[in-house]
Amino acid sequence: SNIDMEIGAMDKGAYDYFMLKEIHEQPKTIEETFRGRLQNDYSEIVLGGLLNVFPKIEAAKRIVIIGCGTSWHAGLIAEYLFEEYAQVSVEVEYASEFRYRKPVLSSDDVVILISQSGETADTLAALELAKSKGATVLGICNVVGSTLSRETEAGVYTHAGVEIGVASTKAFTAQVTVLTMIALKLAKRKGTISNETYKVLVKELAEIPEKGRAILDDGEKIKAIAEKYHEAVNALYLGRGYLFPVALEGALKLKEISYIHAEGYAAGEMKHGPIALVDNNLPVVVVAPQDDYYEKVVSNIQEVKARKGNVIAIVTEGDKGLKEMVNDVIEIPKSHPAVAPLLAVIPLQLLAYHIALLKGCNVDQPRNLAKSVTVE
Ligand code: G6P
Repeated sequence: SNIDMEIGAMDKGAYDYFMLKEIHEQPKTIEETFRGRLQNDYSEIVLGGLLNVFPKIEAAKRIVIIGCGTSWHAGLIAEYLFEEYAQVSVEVEYASEFRYRKPVLSSDDVVILISQSGETADTLAALELAKSKGATVLGICNVVGSTLSRETEAGVYTHAGVEIGVASTKAFTAQVTVLTMIALKLAKRKGTISNETYKVLVKELAEIPEKGRAILDDGEKIKAIAEKYHEAVNALYLGRGYLFPVALEGALKLKEISYIHAEGYAAGEMKHGPIALVDNNLPVVVVAPQDDYYEKVVSNIQEVKARKGNVIAIVTEGDKGLKEMVNDVIEIPKSHPAVAPLLAVIPLQLLAYHIALLKGCNVDQPRNLAKSVTVE
């Protein structure tokens, strides 16, 4: 097929699979995504593509974010960012649902469509529906010149470069980077963020590539963890706040490429169902850095341990308490909670990759899945 020919022509470099290459490219692609956009010693965020529509975004009473798959997860992270910093109400919708609903939308609404390919059929149909209601439609996509980029009023490209692996990795972190910049820029314009917090967050964003590199340099350790759990039949992923969508994304990665049934859950929801599944066969991946939710997440971990579940915790570098409590830890550098998804997702991508590899799966082209779903 065309895709096979294209893949054949691309270069995996030193990596066995495109997915691994793309995971490792993330420090660079995140940099590419904010290159030229974080200006003047990072004191200013410039998003040329949105210049003319910012007054509309500022005036919006509500922002609706639409996507599918991994792009939808990026939208969920944006919901937390936009609400906390720009104080605007946000709804995040699956394109496949939105397109068939009777959504209440008007010219006061701003709709942001997120799509790596810019060609996902459901997302394009949602775009047309939003347009027909008179909403301001904006796009965030990776493929330059894609249908989404042409059909939206304005938008921002992610600059992650060509992504070959069907399971999205670098496109996701690029989307989150763009959405973080939009949220901060909007907050600054609206005056809903203090200068100090703004500066702190921009600096934290700028430091992500370096911290991402540190995680990747240590990535081999995750292989040993994969060895322990690759025969699992089910897996549970938990997180809170900004890291709840990361738990969803970690579970999606594992299920897409290793075919292990994995579910992501808001840690606080565990008691309403998933806890019934916990036994000594269940790996539970908990994203548990030292943020405001730490104590709560630690008690979720205790609940899992009390039922003999195996906990793999993503922790802040130097965390001692959790090391004693859980089966395996993966450390990530300390960061502000609002940018933590960009770091916490990396070990989850690697974990899924190594587990899939041990199971002999084709990590770049998993069965039944397509890179871009252009039919319904
Ligand atoms: C497919 C891909 C996913 C992707 C989703 C949305 O399911 O396998 O990796 O997240 O489509 O694609 P899009 O191009 O719209 O972001």
